[in-house]
Amino acid sequence: RLKVGVLISGRGSNLQALLDAAADPAFPAEVVLVVSNVPNVTGLARAQKAGVATATVNHREYKNRLDFDHAVTETLENSGVEFVCLAGFMRLVTKEFVAHWHNRMINIHPALLPLFPGLDTHQRALDEGCKLHGCTVHFVRHEMDSGPIVGQAAVPVLPDDTENSLAIRVLGAEHRLYPECLKLIAEQKITISGNRLIHRHTSQITEDMI
Ligand code: GAR
Repeated sequence: RLKVGVLISGRGSNLQALLDAAADPAFPAEVVLVVSNVPNVTGLARAQKAGVATATVNHREYKNRLDFDHAVTETLENSGVEFVCLAGFMRLVTKEFVAHWHNRMINIHPALLPLFPGLDTHQRALDEGCKLHGCTVHFVRHEMDSGPIVGQAAVPVLPDDTENSLAIRVLGAEHRLYPECLKLIAEQKITISGNRLIHRHTSQITEDMI
């Protein structure tokens, strides 16, 4: 099974979705380490409950981003991590970190990229009057919230939605999408060509994935 390290900064509900999927021995990836840049967050407790090793690499203890990113890579590699999933990891990473994990690191973003990179995606979708919103799993490139898209899941924006009600609907889609995308990659069902993914077995794509 592909040895995955998950980077988090907080709640870790997407981490939980990955842990739940990987609890099935037939799932082609296993989570071998969870790293948080913030001490004592809920996500770390979720990992411990699942019997997965954890580490905290506190960015406040490093003098710059490069030193912090080196420490994260060292921590991941000491645990034999082959592939990285960012799951609510709220730090910008250096281009050196992105280069090191090139095509070996994915992120989940709460919008239908390339719409709404950055923060406050749900409020921005409401402000724009979007009728569809959703989430994206993508390989990480140096430009923030960009890179080859692995999968997307769309949800409707309903007339009475608030930022919170929309966030909850998108989060449900995130929890289905992230394990599906990791599975596709771990089964080597895709190859990357430029900014595009070539699906070798399109029958693997679920209804959730556009
Ligand atoms: C998720 O909605 C994720 O898409 C988002 O943060 C939340 C983390 O929740 N990520 C970003 O905004 C990345 N810039 P979780 O900790 O419960 O998985």
